[in-house]
Amino acid sequence: MAKYKIGWMPGDGVGVDVMDATRIVLDKLGFDAEYVPGDIGWEFWKTEANPLPDRTIEMLNNVDAALFGAITSLPKEEAEAALIPELRGTGKVYRSPIVRLRQEFNLRTNLRPCKAYSGNPLNFKDGLDMVVFRQNTEGLYMGVEWHPLPQEVRDVMKRTHPAQMRVLEETANEDIAVSTRIFTRKGCQQIVRDAFEYARKFGYKTVTVVEKPNVVRETSGLMVREARKIAKDYPGIDLWETNIDAMCMWLIKNPEQYGVMVSSNMFGDILSDLCAQLVGGLGFACSGNIGDKVAVFEPSHGSAPKYVGMNKVNPIAMILSAKMMLDYLGEIDMAKKLEGAVAAVIAEGKVRTYDMGGTSTTTAMAEAIAAKC
Ligand code: IPM
Ligand code: MG
Repeated sequence: MAKYKIGWMPGDGVGVDVMDATRIVLDKLGFDAEYVPGDIGWEFWKTEANPLPDRTIEMLNNVDAALFGAITSLPKEEAEAALIPELRGTGKVYRSPIVRLRQEFNLRTNLRPCKAYSGNPLNFKDGLDMVVFRQNTEGLYMGVEWHPLPQEVRDVMKRTHPAQMRVLEETANEDIAVSTRIFTRKGCQQIVRDAFEYARKFGYKTVTVVEKPNVVRETSGLMVREARKIAKDYPGIDLWETNIDAMCMWLIKNPEQYGVMVSSNMFGDILSDLCAQLVGGLGFACSGNIGDKVAVFEPSHGSAPKYVGMNKVNPIAMILSAKMMLDYLGEIDMAKKLEGAVAAVIAEGKVRTYDMGGTSTTTAMAEAIAAKC
């Protein structure tokens, strides 16, 4: 029997290419796993009106960790039009399967390391080493939304916020859409604590909480207040507080000043794309969705439909996500070897995918990394 059971979910688009590439590297490392395939993505939306079938959830309940490639997500109307005829008009609503997965398995921590490997022609600055902790289940991603606005919700808002609601007096319910931003104290505490623990373990001197408590007083306020309390348990690590807008500016100006950052779901989503671009873009952006029972590792990039089947995209984001999985499973030596191999290939500069200004294929990049393992 293999040592680990790993959920294998390529998804669609270039997810398939980057997962195949990752397999080359994991096999070379001698990672002892049974890979259990899982259906997820656009294909299953079109034919079953469910991009995350129950059988996939069942599978994930029985693995040690999972790798996930990418999926296509389209807005409401386009999703409806893509369904096979017999499923159209049945009231099924497309929900991003990765967002659902995060909630279904309470994968509350999204960990996104952004490191500038030396020799990467895409680095904004050399030497950057940042990590974003994004709360992964709450906030604007909870999916508590209305359009049109139900009258009872309107009544509550009018009662609790009469002054603010005055501007909506003339606007009909059909013309109002509301998306809620729900934070829990526990959610804030857990993500902040994860960030501090990581900072302590890997020797980062600061944790920056990135919110907007001067305007979004209740939710961002809760996060920042909890961060201040938790910071007291970590002498020697400074808590910095920065607003999300200013943070985007500071990260362009002085990115080397930042280490660990922690934020809520949507702000963390935005922040992690910015950080990814500072270290070479989405081709290098790896991530882990971590819960108490299982963890799903995925590149931050999407399915890039225009590159499908071209064996063209950079697999490094996916390969580094597999490296994070190895760390999570406690295969520290293997993880180090893999990261060293990635760093060596980048430093050498002989094999470069199109985003890095080269012409190497996805497979060639994987083989070069495997050769260095
Ligand atoms: C990410 C992505 C996802 C998100 C999308 C694909 C739903 O942007 O993982 O950052 O918004 O979380
Ligand atoms: Mg994103």
